[in-house]
Amino acid sequence: TRLVVLISGSGSNLQAIIDACKAGYIQGEIAAVISNKADAYGLTRAQEAGIATSVLDHKQYASREEYDVALGQLIDSFTPDLVVLAGFMRILTPNLVQKFRGKMLNIHPSLLPKYQGLNTHQRAIDANDAEHGASVHFVTEELDGGPVVCQAKVAVLPDDTAESLAQRVHKQEHILYPLVVKWFSEQRLTMEADYAVFDNKTL
Ligand code: GRF
Repeated sequence: TRLVVLISGSGSNLQAIIDACKAGYIQGEIAAVISNKADAYGLTRAQEAGIATSVLDHKQYASREEYDVALGQLIDSFTPDLVVLAGFMRILTPNLVQKFRGKMLNIHPSLLPKYQGLNTHQRAIDANDAEHGASVHFVTEELDGGPVVCQAKVAVLPDDTAESLAQRVHKQEHILYPLVVKWFSEQRLTMEADYAVFDNKTL
């Protein structure tokens, strides 16, 4: 399975996937890591692992549509089987989402459908939620709204801050995301219509 991973920042999820490929846990290889930010630390992680990197700076494009056309072409040039969004902080145009329908996953730091968008950890604390977590989902036109494949839960503790909670969720993400990519690489996971299907069962 050829993967292309899109990042904007630290890339700790990227690192988990790099490690999982290296260990043979995921039967696949990362063909390239693409960032919209030149200073994303994840680019260093990729280079240290000997993975090709590209920076595609959105500020060089007049519109989101033009940027996403270029991004689609860049992704295509690596002929991936799966596109993995790992902290890629861009809203994607419907055209780009269509292009990789059923072949693009995202990880979001909440128990979707709760808390789409930003500041998820603080919102879970403010709502007095007993549980919080992370979700991996197929990407559709609806932001953080595509079919959920799998979730990891953590307890919200009485003295949690957004930072302490984020740290525990992050740890779970690093287990969850490689697992779901592994399933995809084993062809156990597809998207049919608007549903995720695992081992021929609709989720
Ligand atoms: C994670 O919290 C992920 O859920 C969200 O962006 C963050 C990326 O973190 N989509 P990292 O760059 O993988 O460390």
